Amino acid sequence: MALQTVSLSGSIGAEIKGVDLTRLDDAGFTDIHRALLDHGVICFRDQNLTPDQQLAFAARWGDIHLHPYLDGLPNRPEIIEIVKEAGERNRFGDHWHTDQIFTSSPAMATMLYAKEVPPVGGDTMFASLSHAYGALSDGMKELACRLRTYNLYDKQAPRSRRMSAKIPDQDKPAEPAVHPLVRVHPETGRRGLYINEMQTTRRFDGMTVDESRPLIEYLLRHATRPEFTCRIRWQVGTLAIWDNRCLMHQALDDYPDYRRVMHRITIKGDPPVGVGQEDIAA
Ligand code: SIN
Repeated sequence: MALQTVSLSGSIGAEIKGVDLTRLDDAGFTDIHRALLDHGVICFRDQNLTPDQQLAFAARWGDIHLHPYLDGLPNRPEIIEIVKEAGERNRFGDHWHTDQIFTSSPAMATMLYAKEVPPVGGDTMFASLSHAYGALSDGMKELACRLRTYNLYDKQAPRSRRMSAKIPDQDKPAEPAVHPLVRVHPETGRRGLYINEMQTTRRFDGMTVDESRPLIEYLLRHATRPEFTCRIRWQVGTLAIWDNRCLMHQALDDYPDYRRVMHRITIKGDPPVGVGQEDIAA
């Protein structure tokens, strides 16, 4: 049965209608997996999931990726509860990033389930890194394919009170991870930039921060051009899943007076693979 999909923008994102994620057979899951590869981020409205049901859906995508620095729920360590209280700033994920680029095998996908949302605001923005790569000049593509990024988690970044409490060893230094700036998607074969804001992608490998900054800032501006983006407006019961191998995302900080609670699970991924020397000009 063909999925009923409604695109969220001209480039990426789709809402999938008429699916109850607790009653998905293997053929239905195969269609949803295809939809994720086609659209980069997909969402389902009006789901009514217990933590175990969310985990069961997550497990269909692969092994669960445990965050190296953030604690999950006490009785479900695979689920990170993202909480912002009324009166606080939203500081969790409030910059463009792809999840866990600061690890050697970053999360392949992230699943976010809305438990409590503000009446307006608190949307999540997504940007396509493969569209961004495709729109670069040939000269910039060649240069980008030769560069590697140096990525480090910022344990000291400002966070809401509840989120800071989830980082147990604040003073223990984080481990860096070096990745190709252009990543080949392991399932679609498409090339994409692979980068975060400088809070995490600190510099290019073998270069200083000052040398790296102009190009990193240019690539981020380019990758977040409105025509490469879409946004999800959350409702209670919305579940979204996105592909971290070809997308960045950013949680908006525009609902100071409201509480927002989300349940997040990440799925294990592979070490990013760059473009081989012999294929760079292809
Ligand atoms: C995240 O960056 O994983 C969280 C996104 C959100 O809260 O919208």
